[in-house]
Parts: sequence; C-alpha cells; structure tokens
Amino acid sequence: MTISKLLKCYPMRYVEYDPSPKDKQSTAEISIRVAESEADFEACAVLSNRYIREADLESSREDTQRHAAGRGNSVLIACLPDGEIVGYARVTWVGVPPKAPDNVAPPGFYLGGMAVAAEYRRRGVGRQLTVHRMKLLSRLADEAWYIVNSSNEASIDLHLEHGFHEATREFVFPGDVSDGPGTILCHAPLGPTASRCPGCPPA
Ligand SMILES: CC(C)(COP(=O)(O)OP(=O)(O)OC[C@H]1O[C@@H](n2cnc3c(N)ncnc32)[C@H](O)[C@@H]1OP(=O)(O)O)[C@@H](O)C(=O)NCCC(=O)NCCS
Repeated sequence: MTISKLLKCYPMRYVEYDPSPKDKQSTAEISIRVAESEADFEACAVLSNRYIREADLESSREDTQRHAAGRGNSVLIACLPDGEIVGYARVTWVGVPPKAPDNVAPPGFYLGGMAVAAEYRRRGVGRQLTVHRMKLLSRLADEAWYIVNSSNEASIDLHLEHGFHEATREFVFPGDVSDGPGTILCHAPLGPTASRCPGCPPA
C-alpha cells in the first residue's frame, strides 16, 4: 500500500493540548542519536503505529528505513541508558517537481514525523529531538520548514520555541505526505540566505 493510501485509511492522532503540565521530570538520562539499524527502524515503526497513525507494522518499518536512506533525510531517535527507544523524529528533504503550481511549498529541509512514548512525554524528549534536528539543519541550510495541522496545538507550541513561525495556509505540498485539511506551512530562518516568507518579521 502506498503512503498516500495509508494516510486516507488511518487518521492522524494528536496529543491532547495541555498548556500547564503538573508533573515535570528530568530527561538527563535520554540521549539522541541517528537511527541506523533494523532494530532502530522497527522501534520507530512501533512508535509511529501506536502514536501517530495505525498502519501495517512491516509497511511502517520499510517506510522509515526507505525514508532514512533518502538523500538529505535523517531519522533521530531518543534512547534510555538501557537502549530502549522512546521517541523518534524525522528530517526530510523535499524537492519541487516539474510543473508544480505557483503556491507549491518551497524546496528544502522539513521537520516532520515525530512521536514520543506516552509515559515519557512532557519531559523535554520532543524538545531534545528538535534541538538536535535544528542543529543538524543549521550545518546544512539557512532555513528549515515544517508542516502541521492547525489542530495539533501541542506540536505548534513545541516548534515555536525553535524559531518557527507561520508562513502560509495557502499552499500545496509536493510530497506524498501531507497533514490533511487545515495544514499550516511554518518557516524557521537559520542563516543569512534564508528566504523571506509572508510570516517573516519585517527586515
Ligand atoms: C507532540 C509530541 C511529540 C511532544 O513530545 P514531548 O516529548 O511530550 O514534548 P516536550 O516535553 O519536549 O515538550 C516541549 C514543549 O512542547 C509543547 N507541548 C508538548 N506537548 C504538549 C501538550 N500535550 N500540550 C501543550 N503543549 C505541549 C510545550 O510547549 C512543551 O514545553 P513545556 O513542557 O515546557 O510546556 C508528543 O506528544 C507526541 O508524540 N504526540 C503524538 C504524535 C504527534 O502529534 N506528533 C507531532 C506531529 S507529527
């Protein structure tokens, strides 16, 4: 089954928005590294199935592995000291196909696809995965992009911390993966050659 068919069958799951969590715990024990083994990809597929979108596990694992092998892409994982993987997050290079409409999302590096195991949430794991992705991207490009559904408020708040602002809601996404109706394109300038989007503050 293709990813676009999977998306139609299985809706996204978002965490409930809670602006004031009560029980904050340390994430000192969590380390972040690049996913590279079959076991890593399998763990990402399990997290994706459980927390983002239910799908056939084998297709999910193959998709993660194929994604990680793609040019410009990476998958980072958050690990406990015993090696257990409790979160993952992707970076995807997105190009623009020939004959794309004028309002196509720009080519570049996109953050997208992140899940943290429920029992490790609100401890800064998603934040650490995003800090590492932004550091990685700051060595590769002068800007980063991200698409998010307007109803995924937790993810929106998380990314605001890392320099993202809303660019536009009037766009089409060139890749196979989109976040459904209500998707927002977000932009984070990282260096001097970053483009200017409609949401960038005045120079
Ligand atoms: C979204 C998700 C990845 C966040 O992971 P996390 O490790 O709990 O996030 P963090 O603890 O690093 O949170 C960092 C900041 O993000 C925001 N945030 C995270 N979860 C939130 C929630 N449930 N409600 C409101 N804000 C939230 C907060 O600003 C938080 O800072 P704070 O805890 O100091 O207030 C996780 O909830 C998840 O896996 N959700 C399901 C899948 C999903 O929606 N993925 C994202 C889009 S693909």
